[in-house]
Order: sequence, then structure tokens, then C-alpha cells
Amino acid sequence: MSNKQIGEALNGQIAAEFASWYSYLAMSTWCSEQELSGCAGWLRAQAQEEYTHAMKIYDFLLDRGVCVSFTKIDPPRDSFASIVEVFDWALHQEQENTRRIDSLFQLAMEQKAFASLIELQWFVTEQVEEEKTARANLARIKMVADDPAAILDFDNTLSERTPPLDTTPQ
Ligand SMILES: [Fe+2]
Ligand SMILES: [Fe+2]
Repeated sequence: MSNKQIGEALNGQIAAEFASWYSYLAMSTWCSEQELSGCAGWLRAQAQEEYTHAMKIYDFLLDRGVCVSFTKIDPPRDSFASIVEVFDWALHQEQENTRRIDSLFQLAMEQKAFASLIELQWFVTEQVEEEKTARANLARIKMVADDPAAILDFDNTLSERTPPLDTTPQ
């Protein structure tokens, strides 16, 4: 990859995806502490998904012969007043990430970095899915926020998600 600027920006996105991984794990932890095991499992699976996003860009940079750089990942937010706040934070995080992906896409267009454009196209599509899911989760938890029995139903529904990775210790 000849373009230094896009390489640096993609390295920044690796860090952003790992920051999302860390953040979803913190949300999952909060849910575990509240005995909302379905929400905890769903958010843990989402954390795994963020890891796969980071590694997708990581592999792309290696394939293109671009130096992978490692930066500090800030501690995520780990305190929430309610389960609604957790899903509100998740949506906020996805909207921020969409903005980041959009500006990366714009940079790749300006720099005529065609391979990066194609790579980033996957992420543009992915963010449509991520925001849609985050909006649906938030809307549904808001509907039942004052009804503990309905919150448990919601929690039960989220427990159906299959994690993308097998993390059994080897
Ligand atoms: Fe992501
Ligand atoms: Fe996704």
C-alpha cells in the first residue's frame, strides 16, 4: 500500500474495533452482575464480533504489507444506572463507529486507495446492520423498562444468540 495516510487511519480503526470489543465486554460484565445472563451473553458475543472486525483489518494490512501498529486502548465505561442505559450506550457507540467508518471511506476515495475502499465497503454494510440491531434492542428494552417480568423475557430472548467464536480454552 503506497498511501501512508490510509495505512495510519486503518491502524487507528483496528484500535477502535478493539476499544469496541473492550466496551461490549464491560457492558456484558455489568449485565452479569445484575443477573441478566441473556443480555450478558449477547453483549459478550457482540464483543467477540468486534474482535473479528479488528482482525479483518489487521489481516488486510498484513496482506498489503503495511506495518501494524499497537496503541493504548482506554478503559471502557463500566458503570450504568439501568439496563436501558447499557443499550443506549451500545447504540451511541455504533453511531460513533459509523461516523469513523464513513470518514475512512471518504479518505480512501480521496486518496484513490481502491483496495482499501473495497475492504471498507464490508464495514459500511456491517454498520447498517449494527445500528439497526442496536436501535431495535434499545427500543424493545425501553418499552419494558418498568416491568421486571418483561425485562426477564427480553433477557431470555437475547440469550438465543450464538457467539461467533469458540473460546473454549485449548
Ligand atoms: Fe465493529
Ligand atoms: Fe454485526
